[in-house]
Amino acid sequence: MTRTLLIATRNRGKLLEFERIFGALGVQVVGAADLGLPEVDEDADTFEGNATKKARACAAASGLLALADDSGLVVDALDGAPGVHSARYAGSAGDAANVDKLLDALAGVPEGARSARFRCVLALASPDDDEVALTVGTCEGAIAFERVGGLGFGYDPVFVPAGHTRTMAELGADEKDALSHRGQATQAMKAHLADRLRPR
Ligand code: IMP
Repeated sequence: MTRTLLIATRNRGKLLEFERIFGALGVQVVGAADLGLPEVDEDADTFEGNATKKARACAAASGLLALADDSGLVVDALDGAPGVHSARYAGSAGDAANVDKLLDALAGVPEGARSARFRCVLALASPDDDEVALTVGTCEGAIAFERVGGLGFGYDPVFVPAGHTRTMAELGADEKDALSHRGQATQAMKAHLADRLRPR
């Protein structure tokens, strides 16, 4: 019975977060890039659609239980953008350019109108059957006026979680896991994972 879980991401920041959380279950975590798996096109228009597609493709290609996440930032003043396009909001230029574009898009938007949320959908697929387990996590907050903090990744330096005064990039790893969209979806996924790892 394999205790190896393939994480269908090439994002090092996300892989580290999953290792932290699932390591506690005694599962060995490997990343899609470590196995040389081809990249899967994230062309669905929902987080659920992309996560399901990636998990199924990676389970089939590797023969391993595969967990995929699709996540992103949903900003109310931008009609939900960048949403499923969060990783490539500013093209292929990366996190810093994405944050610059977001701050530009929100220039002139006052404090009370900068509400946003991170969303994360996790999908767990096995190579043996078609059933996919889905869990969802949401972290409400607001977009700051400038970057603060050097931890985390992506939009963390400009995202202030609801009820907090610091940005996500000022929170330690444990603090982030306890409130983040990925932390919530991952905690909910633990039961599905334990069930899939049980000998049948
Ligand atoms: P994807 O799920 O690989 O499509 O990428 C999601 C994108 O959303 C990331 O590249 C980040 O830009 C952003 N994102 C998702 N989760 C987080 C987070 O926890 N902090 C900061 N940015 C995030």
